[in-house]
Amino acid sequence: MDKEKQVSSSREQFSSSFGLIATAIGSAVGLGNIWRFPYIVGQYGGGAFLVVYLAMVAVIGVPIMVAEFIIGREGRRDAINSYKVLAPKSHWYFGGITGVLAAFFILAFYGVVAGWTLEYIILAITNGFSGQSSGDIVNIFTNFISNPIKPIIYQIIIMLITCGVVSTGVQKGVEKAAKFLIPLLVIIMVVLNIYAFMLPGGEAGFEFLFKPDFSKLTKEGVLAALGHAFFSLSLGVSIMITYGSYIPSKENLLGTAVKVSISDTVIALLSGIAIFPAVFAFGIEPTSGPGLVFMSLPNVFAKMSGGYIFGILFFSLLGLAAITSTISLLETIVAYLTDTFKFRRKNAAIFATVVITLIGMVASLSNGPLKDIVIAGDNIFDFLDNTTANYFLPITAFISVIFVGWKLNKDIVKGQFTNNGEINSQTSYEIFKFLIRYIVPVGIIIVFLFQIGKI
Ligand code: PHE
Repeated sequence: MDKEKQVSSSREQFSSSFGLIATAIGSAVGLGNIWRFPYIVGQYGGGAFLVVYLAMVAVIGVPIMVAEFIIGREGRRDAINSYKVLAPKSHWYFGGITGVLAAFFILAFYGVVAGWTLEYIILAITNGFSGQSSGDIVNIFTNFISNPIKPIIYQIIIMLITCGVVSTGVQKGVEKAAKFLIPLLVIIMVVLNIYAFMLPGGEAGFEFLFKPDFSKLTKEGVLAALGHAFFSLSLGVSIMITYGSYIPSKENLLGTAVKVSISDTVIALLSGIAIFPAVFAFGIEPTSGPGLVFMSLPNVFAKMSGGYIFGILFFSLLGLAAITSTISLLETIVAYLTDTFKFRRKNAAIFATVVITLIGMVASLSNGPLKDIVIAGDNIFDFLDNTTANYFLPITAFISVIFVGWKLNKDIVKGQFTNNGEINSQTSYEIFKFLIRYIVPVGIIIVFLFQIGKI
């Protein structure tokens, strides 16, 4: 048997369709939906941004997810090596390198924010929100993130947990956790949504979120919508390539991508509905940035009946949703290190965790003692957040669609899309092909040209 076949036949696979979907949703759903989505919507003007975002998910996000799955399931390796076996002696694997690097930098700041949720779980348990004015709640947040030590301790805890799970192997831990956590998260969100509808003064929040005012949409907003679609769906980070390599051949790649994208979007919308009415009812600036969730929802918990329990549950679930995403980020890097350098899984996980945690510490300190270090107008934390989402992810995703659309043998692509003719109609294949060959790449290029002011 040749070496390639051996690698692919001994590779771990997802144990069931539900396990696959749950794991992919576990990666997609996380801080991106609940922490990042609302503050990005807030910064870029609300409803009009939302319309652009939804279009980006449907037209650009879904086809890219399918393309990434195809690369992974055909290559049956980590992202970089999948490119290498599918296009030997070429430079396409660069698309894997930018993805793995993106995962690396995202995990650095993402681990910090995941750590914030731990402080908020403790605050919720110790009844830290009740009796506080909305001004106090803002101060609690700003004092906390600028503290040089506390957020770093929490970040280290999150990174250790992530490292522990990834070291023991993907499926059992991640699949199981995701299957249980995501439904629970949805239930909590729905309850918070019902509360949002009853919040006096909350109407302005609904209007902000759902009434598009296109005069508020900026060029940066369009790029941010694209970047956030990638971030939220975990695209352009080599994750869906890596997970694709664990997908059994009978699964429907298009169906999986559609289900993951719809779930991810629904959770983002539920989170917007939970947050914006509170933002307006309690006089918080929608443009407050990364602190938005932490500054708005505690007000709700302080006042709603049962708020004590809901506060604890909400932040616990947020932390857990974050961990299913940190695991996917670390897994991508570890898959690369083990496949390429034959590192032991555990050693690879420890090595990557140490380096990433150190970078994350600097990001955390940039909200406090290092805040005067500014790169392109942002502190280090925001710089990592914005640069990865708006540049690394679109570029990596761009390479993957060009690869699948133009380079990879058409029979392979069609075979993967239709499971060798068993599923998905010819028409859906033609639409997919048209999207990844023309619409998606041209769309990404237009957004960039628009951003740099060329159109
Ligand atoms: N999609 C995850 C979220 O929304 C974040 C993430 C980005 C995870 C990129 C993996 C890769 O929270």
